[in-house]
Amino acid sequence: MTKPLNVGMIGYGFMGRTHSNAYRKAPNFFDLPYKPVLKTICGLEEKEAKAFADRWGYESYVTDWRKVIDDKSIDVVDICVPNNYHAEIAIAAAEAGKMIICEKPLARTAAEAEPMVQAVEKAGVANLVSFNYRRVPAVTLAKKLIDEGRLGKIFHYRANFLQDWTISSQVPQGGMATWRLDVKAAGSGVTGDLLAHCIDTAMWHNGPISAVCGMTETFVKQRMHAETGKVEPVGIDDACTFFCRFDNGSLGNFESTRYARGHKALYTFEINGENASIAWDLHDLHRLSYFDHRDDSIVRGWRSVHVTDGDMPYMGKWWVPGLQIGYEHSFVHQVADFLENAAKGQPTSPTFREALATQKVCDAVLASAKAGKWETIKY
Ligand SMILES: NC(=O)c1ccc[n+]([C@@H]2O[C@H](COP(=O)([O-])OP(=O)(O)OC[C@H]3O[C@@H](n4cnc5c(N)ncnc54)[C@H](O)[C@@H]3O)[C@@H](O)[C@H]2O)c1
Repeated sequence: MTKPLNVGMIGYGFMGRTHSNAYRKAPNFFDLPYKPVLKTICGLEEKEAKAFADRWGYESYVTDWRKVIDDKSIDVVDICVPNNYHAEIAIAAAEAGKMIICEKPLARTAAEAEPMVQAVEKAGVANLVSFNYRRVPAVTLAKKLIDEGRLGKIFHYRANFLQDWTISSQVPQGGMATWRLDVKAAGSGVTGDLLAHCIDTAMWHNGPISAVCGMTETFVKQRMHAETGKVEPVGIDDACTFFCRFDNGSLGNFESTRYARGHKALYTFEINGENASIAWDLHDLHRLSYFDHRDDSIVRGWRSVHVTDGDMPYMGKWWVPGLQIGYEHSFVHQVADFLENAAKGQPTSPTFREALATQKVCDAVLASAKAGKWETIKY
């Protein structure tokens, strides 16, 4: 039987929209044990919160997140606010016994994330961190191919996440649209914002990372702060490149920047194994490139697999073979998996504990860049 599940969404920005859309769509396409009810939206500006509630069909709106936590009718708290608020909200939500979906990165640092993990585990509440790219069908298919052993021993994992939106020194730091450039709100720059995605996917595909050696740069050293109006030093990393070793003996090579002119959100990865290789590109997210050395030499080459058949991950729930889906659907899959598992009392990956591991890698990358030496990671 389908039970109503009351959702309290905190944040009505970019992620507030993707998550609200996911709660609305998921029960139309997946057979879920719960019917999400958009109960309350919370954001800083009352006028905007009201407009969001009207547009998306929330029953009520508030401007203080504590009201969402105190509301006994709310079953799941969904955290879509800047990183500096994740810990306080998540710990309060866990103590109130709510299920929690929290946007990535889990927190600004591993030290800030640890008590979040303890709080959800102590309360025994369902928890998930929104590393949504795992649930792009082609990325999920890559995991299946690796787990089936098709690649054989893996030698290399390389990933990039390239953007170009902060090249101008006129872009301010802090405030509503540009909190990502303010180290106090974001915790770090591209490492926590973009490489965290690559690291999460990489460790899911290829196992734990044991040691890292990183290099960061802040190209624009001072920016006007949108809240104070003063020109202040920039504390985030604008670009980060790191090498790593995985526990399975493979080598990793990761790069992220917001200074790659011409690239808006170019997340790519390539994995090379002894028998086969896989490559993926967010700009062409419904395709998976696959090369298998065991093919006859006269037809051997890179295949571009159109990930739309019903036997491919998640695709049986959508349209018909040949018709692709896109970015928003990764969030629909996330909600569907979370609700299905929560009803069975099972965890959904990546949990807060798994996201803490990603946080530890991010911290180690930044520490390595600062110290100019390799850092090993203790989980
Ligand atoms: N999974 C992904 O691919 C992905 C993509 C973008 C952002 N994110 C993450 O999602 C989170 C939100 O990012 P965004 O791009 O949606 O930000 P945004 O700036 O678009 O929206 C932030 C929202 O938070 C609200 N807010 C800020 N402080 C608040 C407070 N104290 N109480 C209540 N509401 C508050 C604002 O009103 C706004 O609605 C961040 O942690 C970010 O890293 C994840």
